[in-house]
Amino acid sequence: MKILAIETSCDETAVAVLECESTGEGNAARFTVLGNALLSQIEIHREFGGVYPAVAKREHAKNLVPLLESALAEANMLHEDTQSMDSGVHDAITATLEREPGLTEAFLASIGEMEKPEIDAIAVTAGPGLEPALWVGVNFAKALSLAWDKPIVSVNHMEGHICTALATSTDQSLDIPSTELPLLSLLISGGHTELVLAREWLSYELIGATRDDAVGEAFDKVARMLGLPYPGGPEISRLAELARARGGENPYTLPRPMIHDPHCDFSFSGLKTSVLYLVKDKELSETQKEDLALAFEDAVADVLYAKTSRALMDTSAKTLALGGGVSANTHIKRAFAERMAADFPDVRLCIPAASLTSDNALMIGMAGFYHAAKGDFVVLDELKANGNRKLADAA
Ligand code: KG4
Ligand code: ZN
Repeated sequence: MKILAIETSCDETAVAVLECESTGEGNAARFTVLGNALLSQIEIHREFGGVYPAVAKREHAKNLVPLLESALAEANMLHEDTQSMDSGVHDAITATLEREPGLTEAFLASIGEMEKPEIDAIAVTAGPGLEPALWVGVNFAKALSLAWDKPIVSVNHMEGHICTALATSTDQSLDIPSTELPLLSLLISGGHTELVLAREWLSYELIGATRDDAVGEAFDKVARMLGLPYPGGPEISRLAELARARGGENPYTLPRPMIHDPHCDFSFSGLKTSVLYLVKDKELSETQKEDLALAFEDAVADVLYAKTSRALMDTSAKTLALGGGVSANTHIKRAFAERMAADFPDVRLCIPAASLTSDNALMIGMAGFYHAAKGDFVVLDELKANGNRKLADAA
């Protein structure tokens, strides 16, 4: 099955074409990457110190058509067609793209002149994320569905992050081996911090979640307090690694909120406030910033691991997946690998490849395939972007 995947939930615009096939037992599957195009808006948002939804929406609308062309060209599916578009289809597309200024003209000029590509379905992120940004991708997918008469799979962004954790990547393909269940996922990104359990493939229970800030948000806010650019996660990580390499005693210690509480929820706003007290009205030296970054990263890693290990014990999960932008963090990955090997030698730890931790369309194509294989398509008129879409409700 060939899938065209679209991702616009935050500050990455991405389009990919994947050839997907089941390869054996359970969820085992191979995804051959036929085309993959991505544009990050990080440089644009850095100026504002964070992601501005209206700017993200505008950039997605500008970039989707060129990225689609680029992904299709790489997949050798971009061919000119001289037949003109049916007027009913033309009108339906115009109505669908009404709220995406600038996109209609570019869409009709490009898609109106191309042959229908040999794909079987369109997978699009419908949530969670920034709603105005999500809508651009959703409306774009709807317009493509009308133009090409292909069904749409509505993908949960977080399920995409789980798929990337489970996949091993080779040169041109991604392979997901049969996953031993229950599967516990620790999803850590700019908007999420949650532990979800799948006793069955694609069916989720919420085991724990943050009660205030997401962990990526805490990284970004602490980075801003230290005068570091957006996105803060990689910057904090860089400073903390410098402090670790330097060694010696760290003058800073930070709290580990709720670490001993008998549940699997998280809280990061108190930790962030503790950093604020330490930096307020002070001119910190580079060394002090590095030490503080290290203290923050250690506190975060300890809390994440403590809650995850509690969840592993409570659920007897056989596989643990780390997903989301924060799972790029070197220290968190290292801490989990070391501690899991000692505490849970029988649980398989799955960490996404560094190149796939940030948002991309491959993850959406992988998650989309599993739903498409079950015939889980949406009715076009009912498809909506949902910024708060949940993977699981509390059990
Ligand atoms: O999954 P993602 O790309 O977008 C969302 O869906 O939110 O996650 C972005 C978040 C940002 O908060 C960013 O600072 C954080 O992931 N992040 C990191 C690292 N790289 C990205 N946090 C800690 N360490 C990193 N190396
Ligand atoms: Zn994400």
